[in-house]
Amino acid sequence: MSITSNDITTVYEESNATQHYLSPNRKDNVKVCWEEAFSRFVFKQAILSIDTPARKKLRVLDVGAGIGDGYSLLSDLLAQEPSLDRYNLDYLGIDISPEMVETANNLYKNNINVRFEQADIRKKIPESLFDLYLSCGVPYSHLTHEELETVLKILFERILKHQCRCAVVIDVLGKYSIEWQPHWGESRWNYNMSFFKSEGEAKPTLMSFYSHDHLEKIIRSAASEVGCPIQKLAFFDRSIVVGRHTSTGAFNPELPEYRNLVNSLLDQNQKTDLNKLILQVGSGDAPEYIIEFFHKFSGLWNTIIAEAAELLHEPLDVDRLKLPSHLESLDVLIKQNFANPSLTDDRQRIEFALAEKLQQLETTCQQGYGVGHDLFGVVWLDTTNC
Ligand SMILES: C[S@@+](CC[C@H](N)C(=O)[O-])C[C@H]1O[C@@H](n2cnc3c(N)ncnc32)[C@H](O)[C@@H]1O
Repeated sequence: MSITSNDITTVYEESNATQHYLSPNRKDNVKVCWEEAFSRFVFKQAILSIDTPARKKLRVLDVGAGIGDGYSLLSDLLAQEPSLDRYNLDYLGIDISPEMVETANNLYKNNINVRFEQADIRKKIPESLFDLYLSCGVPYSHLTHEELETVLKILFERILKHQCRCAVVIDVLGKYSIEWQPHWGESRWNYNMSFFKSEGEAKPTLMSFYSHDHLEKIIRSAASEVGCPIQKLAFFDRSIVVGRHTSTGAFNPELPEYRNLVNSLLDQNQKTDLNKLILQVGSGDAPEYIIEFFHKFSGLWNTIIAEAAELLHEPLDVDRLKLPSHLESLDVLIKQNFANPSLTDDRQRIEFALAEKLQQLETTCQQGYGVGHDLFGVVWLDTTNC
């Protein structure tokens, strides 16, 4: 069943989404230190593969832009990365919600290279040429699977017509996130737009969830129908253990509040009960390779927790695995934390180092299977000779 533009706009307005997006409270430690860093990493991969020394301008279309988080992530990335700091951003954000667009245009009224327009991606895609078709905050999950394929077909047709090299970032909800394990058998269901527990209940809305296989099938089918060659495809899982609904408990109430626990590791005023961080993922309605992924991933996660617990003289009864060599040693990370003047005791240094190592695990051991809160599909297209 398709939903109307009005339905989506109403859900956001009734959930006070604009207020949520403007609130500093939504920027918890996990969002700032883990999620935003990971999104910038994905955007960087997208840009690097279309980068040429001659390119000076990056024309960006941000689909479902909200109040412009995509712009803020991108401009931070370009400022941080010496290899990309020559780029000038020319950014257009589109969003179905007039309220979001008005708020975003007010926020960025002094930036001449940034504009926001109201548009439903299912009905209107700006005609001009872009280097990066961005999305973040899972806007494409509002569309049915069929609508996503139709939108991608139109997008790929445009790209073919423009004869260009560009990247398309498609951010959707991961089908096999532990946040909603009871729903693993479904790929479109009533999702609750509540953001954090403190914000209470919000209106449920139908959202689409994707495994890597399903998203890849849709992308390839859209491209082949319009004859647009795909140069390269990659998938990335973001927030495997720390998705925000591990803390709201909205869809899997049995789950420990992993996001709050990791926030606590990163908060020097809190002492974290490491035992609660132990990850156990039962067998849900998922293919064998997903169950195997979680088996391996939770083994590594729990080994890291046990390592830190031992240093705190609070040993945990956990079967330990050999950790991959690319994960930095906890001792090294703890030593580095001696240089941080705000960390004044050993427990804080160990908790910070533990958070850092768990983040390395989430970032480097994800396979892009659709096991996190977000699944990013990145498509690189080169239609210059078409
Ligand atoms: C969760 S928000 C993400 C906003 C922003 N990208 C961010 O990362 O903060 C999803 C956004 O997608 C927008 N959206 C949903 N369906 C859309 C559609 N069909 N066309 C354009 N925007 C849409 C919503 O209005 C909302 O602002």
